[in-house]
Amino acid sequence: MVYDNIVLIGFMGSGKTSVGKSLARKLYKNFVDVDSVIEAEQNSSVSDIFKDKGEAYFRGLEQKCINELTQNKGQVIATGGGLPIFSAIPEKSLIVYIDADFDVILNRLPARERAKRPLLQDESRAKALFNERINTYREQANFSVDANQSIPTFIHVIFDYILDQRVL
Ligand code: S3P
Repeated sequence: MVYDNIVLIGFMGSGKTSVGKSLARKLYKNFVDVDSVIEAEQNSSVSDIFKDKGEAYFRGLEQKCINELTQNKGQVIATGGGLPIFSAIPEKSLIVYIDADFDVILNRLPARERAKRPLLQDESRAKALFNERINTYREQANFSVDANQSIPTFIHVIFDYILDQRVL
């Protein structure tokens, strides 16, 4: 099967955005980030959308956004950590799971990045959320990459997989 787009999934702070940017550059594809598209369209930050309109409203925006973005082809798309839990990712997307342990994620994430994420404020709740979600991430993925390695190393692993499989 040849896919239209590469969709990166994984827990908050696993590196989807920075990995996506770099992968897109290497593959000569466009990069898009679902959270950034939503923020631009709503003219509001994700944490303000959560605060002002609630999580359910945000989840609706995510579904609409991924449906619209996947009308186009040849993109690397980074999703928010909850998107594959609450939304269906359209077919013909090559779904890559950035599979990092919870501790690795926390260590990688600077405080200012953590502050932007409403669901990461309470560490024990975030850990419980992580444990609840990992099975869904693994089930949804066409390919899971061990993201406990350094970021440049696992970007190479994804890149090689895509070239070897000739999927895009
Ligand atoms: C969320 C992840 C965030 C953002 C929102 C909710 C989640 O994106 O969409 O704060 O439910 O996991 P990142 O995965 O880019 O942090």
